[in-house]
Amino acid sequence: MAIHESNARPISLVKWRRAIFLALTSACLVTWGLASWARPNDAVPYPTGYRHWTHVKSSLVGPKHPNFEREGGFHHTYANEKALEGYRTGKFPDGSTLVDDGLESKETANGALIEGPRRRVAVMLKDSKRYAETGGWGYEVFKGDSQTERLGAAEVVAKCFACHGQQKERDSVFSEFRK
Ligand code: HEC
Repeated sequence: MAIHESNARPISLVKWRRAIFLALTSACLVTWGLASWARPNDAVPYPTGYRHWTHVKSSLVGPKHPNFEREGGFHHTYANEKALEGYRTGKFPDGSTLVDDGLESKETANGALIEGPRRRVAVMLKDSKRYAETGGWGYEVFKGDSQTERLGAAEVVAKCFACHGQQKERDSVFSEFRK
């Protein structure tokens, strides 16, 4: 009996260890699976057709601006139908999409400033559940004319939100609809 007992214990300990190992491994796999399944869903899609949306306003970032190197030139803001409601009410419904179309500027021979190549397309998409951590807005930047090259890494998005999130009373939006 004594011999039997001393044999049985190490076996059940091994079994326990195996069970714990299996439980942890499957928990990790499930977490990883959920994370990789959730990520593509969270990506803000390219705002196809935004050039036919409503033009909200434009601004020109001049050489005195601290970010002229990166942001200098024209910024045209566009809003889809849902976002127009947000400009009216101050609360943007889910599905609202805003675009900041950034183009370089260049001077013509007679001194007019005209649009140069596109720098990037910055997008905000409202989905209060999916983007709850960033004030209900998903942020993304598409490089130049590309619809697939994304510049919105996590640390970039954190900067977008750090600035836009200050507009608490206006649902993270800066621009106002120009009549
Ligand atoms: C330091 C502050 C700041 C940061 C950082 C910033 N923005 Fe903005 N953004 C602004 C301001 C100010 C405007 C309004 C410009 C105007 O009225 O012409 C704006 C406008 C916009 C708009 C048009 C809607 C609106 O709020 O008026 C979009 C879309 C946008 N930004 C996206 C982004 C994205 C994406 C990022 C991160 C990659 C980002 N922004 C980072 C300040 C910022």
